[in-house]
Amino acid sequence: MSSSSIKFTINHIKKLKNTAAPFATLTAYDFTSGQIIDEAQIPLILVGDSASMMIYGYDTTLPITMEEMLLIVKAVSRGVKCSLVVADMPFLSYQPSIEETIKNAGLFLKEGGASAVKLEGGQHIGKHIKGLVDCGIPVLGHIGLTPQSYHQLSGYKIQGKNPKDAQKIIDDALSVQESGAFGVVLECIPPELAKKITKTLSIPTIGIGSGKHCDGQIQVFHDILGYGPSKPPKHAMQYDNMYKNVATVVQQYKKDVENN
Ligand code: KIV
Repeated sequence: MSSSSIKFTINHIKKLKNTAAPFATLTAYDFTSGQIIDEAQIPLILVGDSASMMIYGYDTTLPITMEEMLLIVKAVSRGVKCSLVVADMPFLSYQPSIEETIKNAGLFLKEGGASAVKLEGGQHIGKHIKGLVDCGIPVLGHIGLTPQSYHQLSGYKIQGKNPKDAQKIIDDALSVQESGAFGVVLECIPPELAKKITKTLSIPTIGIGSGKHCDGQIQVFHDILGYGPSKPPKHAMQYDNMYKNVATVVQQYKKDVENN
């Protein structure tokens, strides 16, 4: 897919299954990062609820609200011409009921300019995924380590390490696919399990911390830049130390002003 002005659709993303090389995707949280990623013709941009930490300074993804997400989904969408923008559904914006899921996801498409939503969970969330797809709202699934279940999982840990847990993740993947999702994020599962799921599913898998055998990869924008005060997770592909670089520029500016 090399055209300079392609507008990525759900069908384009589905066709990225089993291509010769894996595809890259990234998170974005504002107009400028959306524009930069779009210019690189990255097929899919996730406005992730990781914004809760990266943008709003909360400790986990739990506190971020629909209002806070909607603001940044709008900003990213304004910067994007070609990538498919996926809005992450925040904690408790979809778990309570299918009606609430549809109402909130609808806002991301109607007002936010997103083309799809992502929500966390496998078999237990299948009806919600189906409800959205039946309304014409495309869904990206997210299984394995699901950060909104931080407390239930007792922290951020690799999931699916024993055969029983691995089988549950395979069943989750199949359920997400059967419910109508166009793709699924596999977060922090063993590479061999990710490989098996990738081979089993007919929809693309997008891995993070799950090895190289997924159809695509996703990274957090701030992690690849090193633009955060704390150490990025082990699976982050860090290419720069923007936090340090920006701090140096700010200090230099301060000195220059003070020196007239
Ligand atoms: O919110 C997020 O950034 C995510 C990715 C890590 C997949 O869910």
